[in-house]
Amino acid sequence: MKEKAATISQIGDGKGFCTVISGQKIVLARKNGQIYAIENKCPHFGLPLGKGKIEDGQIACPFHGSRFDVETGENTDWLTSLGGVLPIPNWSRGLVAMGKKPTSVKTFQVDVDGDDVYVTI
Ligand code: FES
Repeated sequence: MKEKAATISQIGDGKGFCTVISGQKIVLARKNGQIYAIENKCPHFGLPLGKGKIEDGQIACPFHGSRFDVETGENTDWLTSLGGVLPIPNWSRGLVAMGKKPTSVKTFQVDVDGDDVYVTI
């Protein structure tokens, strides 16, 4: 189902725009000028990714720093920090993981028509 999710001006660089389409929580984000949509749910603990910082087309989970490519959803780094501030030493990553393995996030089709951004769920 395709729905209007935002206007282009709502989606800045460096931070995502969170919304809900057809009951699905998503984050709209930019990478190299293009707009992409990913699920607003970190596969580690299911917490929201949307407030995470976006750099080089990757969003960092604000809770434990796992990073995801906003275009492909690919997990590019797993459990790097606590609250984006304190680094997680390698020896304790297994404890923080609590059995969860690196996993990608879902992505969704984005279409831009004029100033309107549509997402297909
Ligand atoms: S909740 Fe996202 S990395 Fe832990």
